[in-house]
Amino acid sequence: MTSNQKALRGRAISFSGNPFERPAAECLVHHEDALILVEDGRITAFGPYADLAATLPPGVEPVHYPDAILTAGFIDTHVHYPQLEMIGAYGAQLLEWLETYTFVTEQRFADRAHADMVAGHFLRELLRAGTTTAMVYCTVHPQSVEAFFAESERFNTRMIAGKVLMDRHAPPALLDTAQRGYDESKALIARWHGRGRQHYCVTPRFAPTSTEAQLDAAGALLREHDAIFMQTHLCENLAEVAWVRELFPERSSYLDTYDHAGLVGQRSMFGHAIHMHEADFHRCHEAGAALAFCPTSNLFLGSGLFQLFDAMDPARPVRVGLGTDVGGGTSLSQLQSLNEAYKVVAMSGRKLDAVRAFYLATLGGARALYLDDRLGRLAPGYDADIAVLDPKGTPLLDFRTRHCDTLEELLFVLMTLGDDRAVRATYVAGECVYDRSRAGDPFRYPARV
Ligand code: GUN
Ligand code: ZN
Repeated sequence: MTSNQKALRGRAISFSGNPFERPAAECLVHHEDALILVEDGRITAFGPYADLAATLPPGVEPVHYPDAILTAGFIDTHVHYPQLEMIGAYGAQLLEWLETYTFVTEQRFADRAHADMVAGHFLRELLRAGTTTAMVYCTVHPQSVEAFFAESERFNTRMIAGKVLMDRHAPPALLDTAQRGYDESKALIARWHGRGRQHYCVTPRFAPTSTEAQLDAAGALLREHDAIFMQTHLCENLAEVAWVRELFPERSSYLDTYDHAGLVGQRSMFGHAIHMHEADFHRCHEAGAALAFCPTSNLFLGSGLFQLFDAMDPARPVRVGLGTDVGGGTSLSQLQSLNEAYKVVAMSGRKLDAVRAFYLATLGGARALYLDDRLGRLAPGYDADIAVLDPKGTPLLDFRTRHCDTLEELLFVLMTLGDDRAVRATYVAGECVYDRSRAGDPFRYPARV
């Protein structure tokens, strides 16, 4: 045995296809008693224990989770780490909320020590929730990006993040300029993009806080670098949509403010996309751009109801991932996002079943990020990023799941009642970085502060 070989055993689910496009039974992979073999951070085999036990390398003893459900780690496609300190702020819709809470909180990230402290808490909360990859907004300060990637590198998590670009309509302390934003982003790309498991994301906050010159500079960054990501906000709130119309009278739509600058393409992730027209969905489909469905945020900020099934229309499907949007969102748990996603979809007269829901939180997110060749599945060749879910994680879950007859029912109850308490352990590249039951610190690496 070499020390980089590992094995996990337990009930497991994964996906072999997209249940929004094909029958669920053809897409869901389920083994009552599975074995996952891992070497050098990658899965080398996944299947029934009975079939694979004989292939266990000598000396490798599987970590056995008899009552758990193993799944690919969750993927959060839209979240703001600096906003962890203001999650659950009372009483405002988007634009007032930004001014009253967000822009005040984000100013503290001029201080690197503060950024280190929050990044440490944020990453641990993600892992506690079973999330192993996220697409993350930092603040306008380059040091906020340094702090985040440094902590992610310590845990070896695959993360996508970037410095916010804002050159207008925010407090002076949070503004850069088109040139400075470009230069700082370029330097961060050189330092972090493709370093270990870190990826850079060009991050214009949203059209109202960037001049056209800054959006163009963001487009230039995308053209100049391979496999770089882009994230921004789109059509979240009606007052915001009206403001964009005023600010960009020459553009045909909110999406067009980004399209004109070359920001709509593969690896572009648009947060929210609630107030969309058919032409917008069509353009995203054609360009291969993705949308982040952020249900806890959309309800908390009173923004509106994302039209999931319109977005995923098989006639012109748009890639959709699931986002928490903390601090607009109220939980870092993707189980809680799914709980609220079910209700948002129900308000439009449709139903989000558990198989599609778990797909959104795993392989769907990976596909939206163009990382579905290495993330989002338990399968040979995939990164060994794994969440160990505990269907008895709370007394109520324990009581309720005794009455679940099918896997679908069990998964549905997990997403309705579950949160971080339903996560027993989290593996990153084959390493157990969080174990709820570990004495002392449940995390593999101690907090710096
Ligand atoms: N639009 C622009 N910035 C933000 C933000 O920080 N959060 C949310 N939810 N929407 C935004
Ligand atoms: Zn957001």
